[in-house]
Amino acid sequence: MGKKIFSGVQPTGNLHLGNYLGAIKNFVTLNNDTENECIFCVVDLHAITVKQDSKELRNNIRETVATFIASGINPKKSIIFNQSQVSAHAEGAWILSCVARMGWLNRMTQFKEKAGKDKEKASIGLYSYPVLMASDILLYDATHVPVGDDQKQHLELCRDIAQKFNNDFEVDNFLQVPEPLIQKEFSRIMSLKDGSKKMSKSELSDLSRINLTDSKDQIINKIKKAKTDPMPMPNGLQELDERPEAKNLLGIYASLTNTTLEKSIENFYGKNFSEFKESLSEILVNKIEPISIEIKKLLADQKYLDQILLEGVEKANLIASKKIQKIKEIVGF
Ligand code: AMP
Ligand code: TRP
Repeated sequence: MGKKIFSGVQPTGNLHLGNYLGAIKNFVTLNNDTENECIFCVVDLHAITVKQDSKELRNNIRETVATFIASGINPKKSIIFNQSQVSAHAEGAWILSCVARMGWLNRMTQFKEKAGKDKEKASIGLYSYPVLMASDILLYDATHVPVGDDQKQHLELCRDIAQKFNNDFEVDNFLQVPEPLIQKEFSRIMSLKDGSKKMSKSELSDLSRINLTDSKDQIINKIKKAKTDPMPMPNGLQELDERPEAKNLLGIYASLTNTTLEKSIENFYGKNFSEFKESLSEILVNKIEPISIEIKKLLADQKYLDQILLEGVEKANLIASKKIQKIKEIVGF
């Protein structure tokens, strides 16, 4: 049986190798299976939970669409749209925020990380962000949600919200309880500068990540400068627990070559780190450079990107407006 896939990416610029290996690569595989129905959403409502420049936001929305297509998502086969243009997302989020409990949201680690020390100054949107995410997913009866490891907790919350709604209103199985699709390995790509930190769009140093728009030279330079430790290439998996940077780079290699971490370790045991880095650069350039070139090509054709979004919004609206109508009836509006 085919799956109903829904996932979202925030248009906050600097889409990077972590987004690609943790999420987008998986979107492409799911999109290529003709049995699946896929919906990929540019979640602009989520983006404004932290301050955005409006002009940049508009460009970033297009760049996210361009990245989806350049990575191999076929807009004829999958629905690609931006969240703000389908009003059911915000409406659903409000209704679901009356189902979700404060206690559940208080446990969300992403809010704690993003809000930092001064929680009083965080936006309310940043706090209720996972409820909007639940609305996104539940409006489309998604059965499976491909995401990186950092979104696991938000998906558990989405499942809890769906179950509570179904119980509270005595509508068995009305909201589909979705399954997360998180890759077992390499679901968390770390910073090139610090193996204990997630590779992230917001990290100040550009050297900490490989952007999907990086050129060949930038990729080679970043891998050359990537942090390692003074020891030789590792001899086994156990060693890697103490060596986060080596583990991350070998993990990236394994993910890009579709092999296991063990195989990558075997491949390079006894060699120099510099030899390994050369191979890694080569593989990265082969994978990322064509995507980077394609993104730039697509960005030059704004009309085409806007057309993709327009078509996607129409299709998404058809599905979401029906579901929100039913939700409103159930609630008693
Ligand atoms: P975001 O950019 O936060 O909207 O994330 C888009 C997708 O990329 C989500 O599925 C994330 O879980 C995934 N993602 C973001 N950063 C990483 C990372 N460093 N490693 C793996 N997956 C990631
Ligand atoms: N919160 C997700 C992230 O930052 C993005 C997102 C929003 C999402 N809505 C979603 C992911 C629905 C999957 C399904 O990565």
